[in-house]
Amino acid sequence: MSGRIQAPRGTYDVLGEQALARDALERRARAILERAGYERIETPAFEATELFARGVGESTDVVQKQMYTLQDSDGESITLRPEGTAPACRAYMEHGMHKRPQPVKLWYLSSFFRRERPQKGRFRQFWQVGIEAIGSDDPAVDAEAILLLAEILEAAGVRARLRISSLGMPLNRLRYRDELQRYLRDNAARLSDDVVARIDLNPLRAFDSEHPGTRAVMEGAPRLLDALDREDAAHFASVRELLDAAGLPYEVDTTLVRGLDYYTRTVFEFTSDDLGAQSGVGGGGRYDGLIEQLGGPPTPGIGWAAGVERILLAGSLAHDAAPPLDLFVACDEPALRSEAFRLAADARRAGHTARLELGGRSLKGQLRRADREDARYVAILRVDGTALRNMETKEQQEVERDTVIHHIARVDL
Ligand code: HAM
Repeated sequence: MSGRIQAPRGTYDVLGEQALARDALERRARAILERAGYERIETPAFEATELFARGVGESTDVVQKQMYTLQDSDGESITLRPEGTAPACRAYMEHGMHKRPQPVKLWYLSSFFRRERPQKGRFRQFWQVGIEAIGSDDPAVDAEAILLLAEILEAAGVRARLRISSLGMPLNRLRYRDELQRYLRDNAARLSDDVVARIDLNPLRAFDSEHPGTRAVMEGAPRLLDALDREDAAHFASVRELLDAAGLPYEVDTTLVRGLDYYTRTVFEFTSDDLGAQSGVGGGGRYDGLIEQLGGPPTPGIGWAAGVERILLAGSLAHDAAPPLDLFVACDEPALRSEAFRLAADARRAGHTARLELGGRSLKGQLRRADREDARYVAILRVDGTALRNMETKEQQEVERDTVIHHIARVDL
């Protein structure tokens, strides 16, 4: 006997209440983002592997361990998108969006794929709501982006803490990197093997480590924020000023590092204590070198993404119930099936919710079902006429069949 096939590890089906909650989140996010001039973008679920290798960075966990990569039959290597920033930048270049007024503001709510160990709030296929504002390095774009995520989280009932920092521009970061590498090498004996192995490739990730020895060493490590040059420091000061002016509380965290390589200048993360180990609800930052990295002209950009599952887990988004049923069309006369079918369709076209018996129940069974589904009205089609029953008052009256919609609409008012 062969076993039953189940959804792959780290994936899940979206059903019932969960589907309603997602709809509600999408509606809220759309309203908030469109008010700020963001337009929807949907990129393909898979891209050339090189886009992520070059965009996200060879040294990141995402590229090294988590990508679902496959060889297409024509020999091309393709990867299920692990994130949305590199694809949005690819689309920006491919469609000549630099010719439009800058910045171009894009938002998405899409599914992404990472081969991670599944746990609460961590999946192998997950959804992100995210934005990318490409083409301006104005600190106001940074502050606005952060405010928008704060607004969405608030609307979803998520209590989250905001941490921000600045990584500076690459040249300055290189100088700082040398200094940090020297410090890490001097203290290598107390660091985890993982961190030691990455001293050359990605020393900043040492700030991310949970390893007690590493954490102790990192307490005394030089901080990037103290090493920013004048321009980067002024940019960060402006972002902070605008957030202060907007009254958004935040904490400057000099140890904040993000798991993706493309960040420059502003980085930020919202975390929630209601999530357990996977406390990151959403985060992002500036990526002023990414488009160049991908073969385009120097173009600044900033964005964020937030996990839909984590927002729903940590939040308390009120969502509408399924719309109430206005009309149930009951009939157990085979000769009247098409009449019944048409009445239900006409009622829906007139804007009502209407359902028809499709399960082959007896008339009694149909009435029981209409009751269970909380139908407001039941139309009972017989050969010799049509009865309309008001399910609240239990009153029943004979009506002309083609006046049923008129009746349910009239009482509606
Ligand atoms: P990220 O921090 O890798 O950033 O992911 C953003 C959010 O996606 C996380 O805070 C988390 O809520 C959610 N997330 C990530 N991985 C998983 C997973 N395996 N299961 C469930 N949720 C997950 C990015 O992806 C960047 N592209 C954000 C960005 C946009 N930066 C600039 N623009």
